[in-house]
Amino acid sequence: MSGPTAPVLRPRRLRQSPALRRLVQQTRLHPADLVLPVFVREGIDEPVPIEAMPGVVQHTLDSLVTVAREAADAGIGGLMLFGVPVDKDARGSGADDPEGILNVALRAVVDAVGDRLVVMADLCLDEFTDHGHCGVLTATGRLGELVVDNDATLERYAAMGLAQARAGAHVLGLSGMMDGQVAHVRAALDAEGFADTVLLAYTAKYTSGLYGPFREAVQSSLVGDRAAYQQDPANATEALRELELDLAEGADMVMVKPALPHLDIVAAVAQRSTVPVAAYQISGEYSQIAAAAARGWIDRDRAMMESLLSIRRAGAQVILTYFALDAAAALRG
Ligand code: PBG
Repeated sequence: MSGPTAPVLRPRRLRQSPALRRLVQQTRLHPADLVLPVFVREGIDEPVPIEAMPGVVQHTLDSLVTVAREAADAGIGGLMLFGVPVDKDARGSGADDPEGILNVALRAVVDAVGDRLVVMADLCLDEFTDHGHCGVLTATGRLGELVVDNDATLERYAAMGLAQARAGAHVLGLSGMMDGQVAHVRAALDAEGFADTVLLAYTAKYTSGLYGPFREAVQSSLVGDRAAYQQDPANATEALRELELDLAEGADMVMVKPALPHLDIVAAVAQRSTVPVAAYQISGEYSQIAAAAARGWIDRDRAMMESLLSIRRAGAQVILTYFALDAAAALRG
């Protein structure tokens, strides 16, 4: 077609060749933006596959150190460690026990790769409690029922944070959604000489059906949900309030989680935050892609890169993803 009806403005011009498309690509991923979440399980001799997360395992201490070296060689930004203890109790005693699996694993990983990777620790009680909640329970509910006791939980988080800092963790990931957790853990760390330990606040953590595969990964004993402390997916404004509070309490980085269902929140937080913003592509987000790809319904690598790019485009500077090593390999080409 030519003449007066032919378009003059042609956006397609910039899409016509790989070289032009590469030149105008606005958002890029780099392995250094990615953090790999890893599970280390006490009392196993071989890595145990997680059925609901094809390609992801519960590590032994040895296999954890091996994957940490691979991650460092791949140039990814860091690791986020989760512990799976043999014994659990009501107060999550394994969390602040220096010989608890997570603290032992932190020491091993920091020893092996601590100067080449940022080593992060999940700071939450749910992996260590027999009831599976993120804090300690007291019978203070409206009907006298057991509820997660915010302020009693803060004391446990302080003890856990100190144990993790002593084990050498560089970053503590406060994932429990207790009010005041950042300020409380910061004060405890500073009082013991850990002023340099970085706090990553899970600022807007939504209650989600997509945590399902993670429950298998950490062998969670949770019955019910976390709706009384995690955010309602219907709400956006309270994410901004949580951001204000976390910044005021001294968070060094903030995070939104899950990632893809809440990209509007990632974008809103990224526009307002004065500290780096992370997003967590959670277990169920990973499993959706892995499961569809295993059936041949979608292309795993394309869906993986598209999801990560979208999270980055929305404004997350750092992405926690179970795809971190695969994505780093794809980025190397
Ligand atoms: C709490 C925590 C959870 C996840 C990360 N930290 C579980 C939860 O809040 O229910 C989920 C991560 C994932 O699903 O990949 N310790």
